[in-house]
Amino acid sequence: MPAGRVAYVDGRYSRHGDAAVHIEDRGLQFADAVYEVFMVMGKLLFDEEAHLDRLERSLGELSIAMPIHRGALKVVLREMVRQNRIVDGFVYLQVTRGVAKRDHFIPKAAQPSLILTARPFNAAAIEKRRGNGVAVFSAPDIRWARCDIKSTALLPNVLAKSASQAKGGYEVWFVDDNGFVTEGGSTNAWIVTRDGVAVTRALSNDILPGVTRGAILQALKDEGIAYEVRSFTVEEALNSREAFVTSATGGAMPVVTLDGKTIGNGHPGSVSARIQEAYMRLATREAVSNASRKNSG
Ligand code: PDD
Repeated sequence: MPAGRVAYVDGRYSRHGDAAVHIEDRGLQFADAVYEVFMVMGKLLFDEEAHLDRLERSLGELSIAMPIHRGALKVVLREMVRQNRIVDGFVYLQVTRGVAKRDHFIPKAAQPSLILTARPFNAAAIEKRRGNGVAVFSAPDIRWARCDIKSTALLPNVLAKSASQAKGGYEVWFVDDNGFVTEGGSTNAWIVTRDGVAVTRALSNDILPGVTRGAILQALKDEGIAYEVRSFTVEEALNSREAFVTSATGGAMPVVTLDGKTIGNGHPGSVSARIQEAYMRLATREAVSNASRKNSG
């Protein structure tokens, strides 16, 4: 089968086009589901343990059981990379509460469903975007009060990202009632102050604890790059030296305009580039050691 064409649903690998879930799956009926996106580089899963930790946390917050043991899930993740012949790409993983007669009350007996897909990405296209930087537009954060859970209920994100795209944007920055940026539609938000200090918002129920955000904070610590964990406003971002967004799908991606106004000199900045390199070094090292641990165990 060509790359990106094998799906996994509840124990079965099948052709992507043939894979299906039940029409009364609560993921479909209520977005009663959580997900993770893993980046794969050079056939290696990046930040695997941190994604699995967050998956377990999201499921725990919603009282959904892990559909299979973590060790078995790791085998499925690797199989998805292998069977889809992914060199550079993503694995998407979703766990729903399972199939039950449509009723708001949480069913007692539902078996969680496990769904995985994988697809290659065009690394050159991502690097080109990194070289140009992206445009961001701000919008009120109209999402719910548990954005720390990686739920598939992404309608506000879908609408806000698409509204940004209609204006030529790549991402939206959600802004809370006090004027502070919470995060992006599918990324965490960062600025670099004029003094070269990287700044990102503290974890709370208002934002997703981004795995890439966490890995980058570790990389900043390791490499002695100055950072602060605190909130910032759109105005501070507009007066900053650089800005970037982070996610499994783009690493640290420079932001060069916000609401149509340039940030810094309007080009991707050197601090963001240094942070991306530091992240890649750390994540690659971790992915290699994780893969070799797996092989020897
Ligand atoms: N999005 N914030 C939100 C709202 C997100 O959806 C994501 C990830 C992030 C970054 O998290 P991480 O570094 O763990 O990828 C922050 C994924 C990539 C998506 O929805 O496709």
